[in-house]
Amino acid sequence: MPVTVLVGMQWGDEGKGKIVDLISEDQDIIARYQGGANAGHTVVIDGKQYILHLIPSGILREGKKCIIGPGVVVDPAAFLAEIEELKNAGIDVNGRITISPKAHCILPVNKILDKANEDRKSQKKIGTTGKGIGPTYSDKALRLGIPFAFFLDNTKLEAALAASLERKNSIIENFYSGEPLDIKSVIRDAKEVAKDVIPFIEDTSQILADAISDGKRVLCEGAQGTMLDIDHGTYPYVTSSNTVSGGACTGLGIPPKKIDHVIGVIKAYTTRVGEGPFPTELEDETGNLLQGEGAEFGATTGRARRCGWFDAVVAKYAVRVNGIDEIVLTKLDVLDSFKTLKVCVAYDLDGKRIESIPDNISVLERVKPIYEELDGWDSKTKGATSFEELPQKARDYIAFLEKISGAPIKIISTGPGREATVIR
Ligand code: GDP
Ligand code: IMO
Ligand code: MG
Repeated sequence: MPVTVLVGMQWGDEGKGKIVDLISEDQDIIARYQGGANAGHTVVIDGKQYILHLIPSGILREGKKCIIGPGVVVDPAAFLAEIEELKNAGIDVNGRITISPKAHCILPVNKILDKANEDRKSQKKIGTTGKGIGPTYSDKALRLGIPFAFFLDNTKLEAALAASLERKNSIIENFYSGEPLDIKSVIRDAKEVAKDVIPFIEDTSQILADAISDGKRVLCEGAQGTMLDIDHGTYPYVTSSNTVSGGACTGLGIPPKKIDHVIGVIKAYTTRVGEGPFPTELEDETGNLLQGEGAEFGATTGRARRCGWFDAVVAKYAVRVNGIDEIVLTKLDVLDSFKTLKVCVAYDLDGKRIESIPDNISVLERVKPIYEELDGWDSKTKGATSFEELPQKARDYIAFLEKISGAPIKIISTGPGREATVIR
């Protein structure tokens, strides 16, 4: 399988990091294609926890090469801090990470604007991570962004930063009634922090093309999840990039025909961080139980994640828009103490049953979940490593999710550790 794409099927935090680490063993290159340090991927190896935000989780597998593609937005300070953390944890990152010159740089001012935008009283909050993601992708679309290639040409860099900051200062002063930034010091600071990123810059699209033609294996690592995709998610409560499998083509420069396998990662229940519709959300004791048992706190912002039952309407949609060949079901063990479980099989819209995600958010905000109830197994799956070990009722639950989602569940995760995995 030369090129595989791995995506989140819900609203992020499905356990992609753990699964990327797991399957990286058989890969040569692991490449991020979108998003930035808004991601938080926790991987547990031999009891030791690693949290990655920007660098692909494949970095934890010795010798594997990692790529940050043109579709990613990179905060140089966050990137360098992550490298330091990895080094301190004993990971040899030398010569293993390459950033595309086409990836855009997140300027500190974009983090300020991200927060300022969220604090505006006149606007509904999105609940962003505050990492400057939206403003940086906005700059890119406005043709006012700063790709890392500009740092290799001082004249171009200064002109581009001046043009971008002139506009930002006008917004800061006139719209947010804030203090304008001193353009000279912003340019100086940007150069200072970016200089340590320059050694990582190289044409990633060529590296990938050469690797693919040499028959090497490439894993494209998605961040966030399908329902947070800017085009296919619950807009405007989304992130600012294409999280779906198609994003791997644009975000890395890999032709669609070269992708031969798509893996979708989904939790055995649902979570969401930030605002926006969430039909199966449980704002009760059961929701609290899922939150507690699943330790559902964001790795990037520390916010408690909203929790609810498995939504098969979302799962079916994710299988469709990503072209998912196989599903990885994570956090099965979190349901170990439940006597009964519910799965949302359709939505009720004003008394009418609908089986697909409404394409209008106003409608999605109004739907009520229609549940099917299943028996819980009320026993331990935590740490299970074989399908035979799973109680019959857990197998029934998996079979139910598999049938309704429309793709085979081939891997089941039963704990945070690498070893707590069932491969069918
Ligand atoms: P990602 O953003 O998709 O990589 O997911 P996160 O790492 O943000 O969130 C998943 C969390 O669940 C992390 O803390 C993982 O260590 C943990 N985790 C992953 N798989 C399992 C599992 O099967 N069972 C349990 N209990 N925890 C898991
Ligand atoms: P991983 O890769 C869960 C959410 C934010 C907010 C919205 C927009 O760990 O699954 P942004 O800062 O991207 O502009 O915020 O998207 N969000 C995530 N939720 N997991 C993530 O990443 C997320 N990255 C962004 O909470 O609702
Ligand atoms: Mg996460």
